[in-house]
Amino acid sequence: MECRDTRQRDLLRLAFSATLVRINRTFLSAKNRRESRGGSAVFSIYRYKVAKRPVELPLWTQFATRVERLLEAKRETNELIGDYYRDDVTALFRHASATRLLDFLKPRSVDYIYTDPPYGGHIAYLDLTTMWSAWLGLDITPDDRAQEVIEGGELRKTRGDYQALLAQSLAQMHEVLKPGAWMSIVFAHRDTTYWDALVDACAAAGFQYANTVVQPVGVVWSMHKKKNPLRVLSGELVLNFRNSPSTVVAVKRAPDQGEPVQIVRETCEAEIIRSLGATTEELHHAVVPRLLGAGLLRAFSKEHGDLVGVLESHFVFEPASGKWHIADGTVRGRFVTRDIARYHVARLLALRRDEARPVNEAEVCRQVHLALRLNGSLDDKAIAQLLREVGVCPDGSHWLPRTEGVQAQLF
Ligand SMILES: C[S@@+](CC[C@H](N)C(=O)[O-])C[C@H]1O[C@@H](n2cnc3c(N)ncnc32)[C@H](O)[C@@H]1O
Repeated sequence: MECRDTRQRDLLRLAFSATLVRINRTFLSAKNRRESRGGSAVFSIYRYKVAKRPVELPLWTQFATRVERLLEAKRETNELIGDYYRDDVTALFRHASATRLLDFLKPRSVDYIYTDPPYGGHIAYLDLTTMWSAWLGLDITPDDRAQEVIEGGELRKTRGDYQALLAQSLAQMHEVLKPGAWMSIVFAHRDTTYWDALVDACAAAGFQYANTVVQPVGVVWSMHKKKNPLRVLSGELVLNFRNSPSTVVAVKRAPDQGEPVQIVRETCEAEIIRSLGATTEELHHAVVPRLLGAGLLRAFSKEHGDLVGVLESHFVFEPASGKWHIADGTVRGRFVTRDIARYHVARLLALRRDEARPVNEAEVCRQVHLALRLNGSLDDKAIAQLLREVGVCPDGSHWLPRTEGVQAQLF
């Protein structure tokens, strides 16, 4: 079959490459689900790995599904942007390296940059796209490989190579951005020393750090993350920088902020109390912006590198829920008594549910009074109110934690 319309041909190619992800021996079919559920090892473990039990999905059905989805997407974009897109006029697409933006962009010509660079997590993108590039006829040159901002890969790049290339691309971004314009950079890495290097490279390029916004992810695809819930992060942070027109303004250490570990502890405690227990990501996403803002990320990463070590010495991790909690139930920081009590109520309900010994209201009040010893006091009426906020009482006397969207049941 021949398709003369280049646009339609490109769309069919896209549907084809999306089909290819599933029609090959690296496709790992998810256990106990429909055979077609799953994904390529390339995207889940970032390696070419032949499945132990390869499945052969029906090619045409898979291709037809991709075409239908593409049509749906086209309908939506047609409605939203119509024919706004004109090659090289309203949009510019280039096969080029971010380390060489000045090859095709004028200095001080860009209004805003949103970039999602590699996180130094040993994902060799170009190596992993070999299969696609071959099928789609894409020309990956040795220079593309040399410029690729990664650690590892076929060229065995070091962490130093990765950081130097990232710094080079940030310097180019600074050159092409208009003075005073903004740059947002998406980043995720559990080792805070990578953050430190990133922020340093941004400052060296002439960017001024402004703030950080959390961007959680809904579904976790990474097998690596699923196997190492504590050690691998999901979700990202978006760091916003300003292209400072003059000289670099480094993030200054704010006075009286305390030591980095103290800030980490307080921030984590606050997050755990607020969220009634918090995952490693949630704590990481709370801590990094705090340390960045206080100019203490460098000091913290130098001393500790990884947040998990500090979490382990000050908090307890519950594998079942995947959340960190306050170690011995003693809250050290200064918080509103009602917030601390709310945490204690929720914690008590969860612990007693796990022991299959759900509590009644009188006991909740007694236990919360005890737990609050050092953190002020609250009357029974206020505790009862909190109990209704975080708990449910299916049998009219025993209380269970309120789980969103899930009907609680006694045993
Ligand atoms: C974290 S991923 C971004 C993924 C992207 N946001 C998406 O949703 O598909 C980092 C990307 O940077 C690309 N990359 C690595 N070195 C590059 C370079 N020198 N110039 C441009 N892109 C590069 C990688 O190929 C990879 O696609």
